[in-house]
Amino acid sequence: MDFKLTEEHEMIRQAARDFAKNELLPGVIERDNKQEFPKEQIKQLGELGFMGMMASPEYGGGGMDTVAYVIAMEELSKVDASASVVVSVNNSLVCWGLDTYGSKEQKEKYLTKLTSGESIGAFCLSEPEAGSDATSQKTTAIDQGDHYILNGTKNWITNGNSADYYLIIAQTDREKKHRGINAFIVEKGWEGFEIGPKEDKMGIRGSDTHSLIFNDVKVPKENRIGEDGFGFKFAMKTLSGGRIGIAAQALGIAAGAYELALEYAKTRKAFGTEIKNHQAIAFKLADMHTSIEAARHLVMKAAVDKDNGDNYDLSGAMAKLYASQVAMDVTTEAVQVHGGNGYVKEYHVERLMRDAKITQIYEGTSEIQKIVISRTILED
Ligand code: CAA
Ligand code: FAD
Repeated sequence: MDFKLTEEHEMIRQAARDFAKNELLPGVIERDNKQEFPKEQIKQLGELGFMGMMASPEYGGGGMDTVAYVIAMEELSKVDASASVVVSVNNSLVCWGLDTYGSKEQKEKYLTKLTSGESIGAFCLSEPEAGSDATSQKTTAIDQGDHYILNGTKNWITNGNSADYYLIIAQTDREKKHRGINAFIVEKGWEGFEIGPKEDKMGIRGSDTHSLIFNDVKVPKENRIGEDGFGFKFAMKTLSGGRIGIAAQALGIAAGAYELALEYAKTRKAFGTEIKNHQAIAFKLADMHTSIEAARHLVMKAAVDKDNGDNYDLSGAMAKLYASQVAMDVTTEAVQVHGGNGYVKEYHVERLMRDAKITQIYEGTSEIQKIVISRTILED
């Protein structure tokens, strides 16, 4: 398969790699310990053009392809998955969703700020009783003529407190089920919009995850995205692309752990020789390398499908399902290669192992990816 990597792609890879090494790596353990949002680093990523990579240049975006985006996601995720999830949500859920389906006015008002990193976005679909079962939205947006009244609770929202603009999915007409769902742009600070406490998480601890509570929040009609009833399709279509970004994040976490394990195996000695000379360790590295290469092919295939205008629901779901399993397997083995050192924070692999787990849960669990895949391959 020819993924047609260009000189520009290689430059993006190098820029993301340099940024990860110079700006993300130095404080990554401390931010993880303190659950500290990488605020300064996200601002810098915005200035470098990493926050709206695929968005239209007309609205400040980079106009790049999905291949460029997954390359950047892989490199950033090798070092700091808490920062890369902010990049992922902003790029593939919020900017892409607005760029593709927003009105000219919405793009001028919101997208321009999101692509520059001046503002951060959040994508709000999940609720306490509607996670995988996303059509069961309980949050309501009642049509009042020139505005909607929003009530309900969203949970697990990435960038929950750091965001400025929130894409909220809510039920307008329950009788129409998923065809009665809408998507809205809501601004932080609007009356009745409350941000719940921060979740204390296993991994991606530098990203801030919150519930959001809406009490009679007035949302102007011009902030609805697309036609009435388009909200569920908006969420599904946006998530199909988002899953490619999370697959690239999983790939990066795996590749980061593998690179650390490889170096460690070359220097650590046991029984009078470097541990790489014990076949048990060499074979682990062989397995890691092979599975990472396979995951990279699936991620690239999904990105190329999207860039070619082909359907990417299936390839994106397969990439996320497989790469997230590889992230779990490789990070676990990387800890093993490091022995006791793997179990302490200083060596980074324990954090990568904790970070890997979320890639099997958010943007559709692995079980949900299997539903998407099996439905596609079984349909006539
Ligand atoms: N593109 C367009 N439309 C789609 C679609 C897609 N990829 N997938 C489904 N739809 C449409 C269907 O066509 C159908 O519409 P019509 O009846 O008009 O044809 C409608 O959506 C409902 O589809 P289903 O009957 O298939 O719905 P379902 O109840 O069986 O659920 C599902 C399908 C795939 C399981 C879906 O609910 C789902 O994806 N669940 C997981 C939710 C999820 O991924 N959440 C992530 C939250 S964001 C996040 O997590 C961000 C982060 O962490 C950083
Ligand atoms: P449930 O849906 O209750 O699932 C529980 C278990 O049952 C899972 O193993 C699931 O796979 C399985 N299951 C459910 N239904 C089926 C079925 N039909 N067949 C087989 N197995 C099934 N959401 C957002 O909207 N925006 C965000 O920014 C966001 N960020 C997140 C960040 C973090 C750190 C976390 C933890 C979550 C985030 N989420 C976000 C929510 C995430 O998308 C959901 O947690 C996920 O979709 C699963 O939903 P749930 O937690 O309700 O689990």
